[in-house]
Amino acid sequence: MPKEQDSHVDNSRRKILTAAAAVASQMVLPIFAGVDPKTASAATRTKMDIDRFVADCIEANTDNDSQAAVLEVLTRAVHTPNAVLAAVGEPSKAGITVLHRSKTLTIFSAVWTPQMNLMPHNHLMWANIGIYTGREDNLLWRKSPDNIEAYSAKALFESDAAALPVDAIHSVTNPLLRFTGGIHIYGGDFFDTTRTQWNAETLAEEPSDGAVIRNIFERENERMQQRNQS
Ligand SMILES: [Fe+2]
Repeated sequence: MPKEQDSHVDNSRRKILTAAAAVASQMVLPIFAGVDPKTASAATRTKMDIDRFVADCIEANTDNDSQAAVLEVLTRAVHTPNAVLAAVGEPSKAGITVLHRSKTLTIFSAVWTPQMNLMPHNHLMWANIGIYTGREDNLLWRKSPDNIEAYSAKALFESDAAALPVDAIHSVTNPLLRFTGGIHIYGGDFFDTTRTQWNAETLAEEPSDGAVIRNIFERENERMQQRNQS
């Protein structure tokens, strides 16, 4: 099928899915509102289907404007944040749960501990972020003659979704005293790409990749444990 025709079919399908999601959202009940059987069955019905979500993202990623198409899928998902939370689980520690990984697309759920910070870093691929619980404050940086400089900020609340371009540099803070959880989607293999991060205090450049990020999360959990014990 020609690409243009293919794209038309994709757009039509997304319109149908969006309409279905709008109808479904009219029926959504709070999933943690109580323990009566009616609410419990509503919780089951409103749990996000992770396999379907991933399949929709993979399909959207074939669109001519893949980032915008995937963002549409993500926006629709976090529109019912409790359904995402029910699917990925209540956060209890910092971590990354990979939902999909390929050369052209990485999807994971990331949890920030209370007041966790992540130093400035780039991705070298487009990124979409959707928040399903808590809040994520993004400080946006850009290259400067000397190094990098902060120039803008964006606070993402529950149900917000945002797109970062390929050349974005951002640092992230969870300003809350509770966990923040988000679905993060990247237009490439996030874990197999050597990127750059900038030391939070000196802004010295350091190499970063999936292993470095996982190590940051592990240290963050140790910090939280020590704080809870003190
Ligand atoms: Fe990031």
